Parts: sequence; C-alpha cells; structure tokens
Amino acid sequence: MKRVAILISGGGSNMLELVRSMTGDHPARPVLVASNDPSASGLAKAAALGVPVVAVDHRPYGRDRAAFEAALQAHIEAAHPDILCLAGFMRVLTPGFVSHFEGRMLNIHPSLLPRYPGLHTHQRAIDAGDTEAGCTVHEVTAELDAGPILGQARVPVLPDDTAESLAARVLVAEHRLYPAVLRRFAAEDLTPLIL
Ligand code: GRF
Repeated sequence: MKRVAILISGGGSNMLELVRSMTGDHPARPVLVASNDPSASGLAKAAALGVPVVAVDHRPYGRDRAAFEAALQAHIEAAHPDILCLAGFMRVLTPGFVSHFEGRMLNIHPSLLPRYPGLHTHQRAIDAGDTEAGCTVHEVTAELDAGPILGQARVPVLPDDTAESLAARVLVAEHRLYPAVLRRFAAEDLTPLIL
C-alpha cells in the first residue's frame, strides 16, 4: 500500500478528491495533508476525513526558502510517504527539495502543458483565442511546470468565457484527472492518461 502526502495552500478541492479516491482496492492511502498556510481551509476538511494534517507557515522564514522547506520536509518525512502530491500548493520549491522527492512528486497545473506554465493560465488561453484548455498532471522536476506529463484533460473554451468561468470548468476536469493519474502512478503505471 503506497503512502501519499498531499501539499495544499488553500481550499484543497483537488486534495479532497484525491483523499476520497483512496479507498477499497486503490493501491494508496493518504497519510498526511500539509499546508504552508495555517489558515488553509483544506486542513480542517482533511482532518474531518481522518487524515493527519500539519501547517508550516512559510511567512516567518521570509526569503529563506530552504529553511521553510527543511521544516516542511521534517513533517513530511515523519509520515514516511512514498508519493507526494502538490494540489493547489502555491509555493515554488527549490531544486534541493524537488531532487529529494524527484520521481515520486506530482503536481496538477491548470493548463495543457507545455502551454502556459506559470500563473494566470485561463486568462492567457482566452487572450490567445484558444478554443481548448484544460489541466495537466506532471512529475515535478526542478524546472517549474515542466516535468514528464502523466495525464491531461481537455475542456472547450466558450466564446463568452471569463477566466473565472473557464477556471471552474477546468477545475471539474482536474477533479477527474488527478485521482485517475494518482491511481495509475501508485500502481507504477506511467502510461500518460488523456481524458
Ligand atoms: C486549481 O486551479 C489547481 O489547478 C491549482 O490550484 C487551484 C486550486 O486548487 N494548482 P485546489 O482547489 O486548492 O485543489
């Protein structure tokens, strides 16, 4: 049974879908939900589902990313995870942290990578006149939003879409994609999943 730690920064809607999916004959179980923000509402939701939670506030560490990550990593290691899932985690991780978990750390990004790495993905797709958008689950590597793609889900961009309406449509796709990719990854099947 693979042990999964999930990192969040806010509501954790993707985290909740991942936690709810790991039941029955699923080859993984959640062992920790961690956040860089003690006020992340996802923490209480995870605790309500019986998942151990921890918050390491990144603000006291100021610009010392490595010190923040060392504190976070200590809590993560204490849970002995086999897999790390970033789910709405909004801190850029240093190459040192990434290399420690490389090959077993996933992230979901709200665009069809390699298009639109970084922020404001929905507005950028609308501004570019794209008729299609979506989300990507990828392995996390030192280069931001650029690791091997494990899955993608596509949604239409509608003529009257705003960034908000498109984000809402993509989020529904994220909630389908991430659990399906995690299940494959936990079963050591790296075949990309295209939904
Ligand atoms: C989602 O758009 C996700 O793609 C991005 O963070 C946003 C919020 O995710 N990574 P969640 O609701 O906190 O899971």
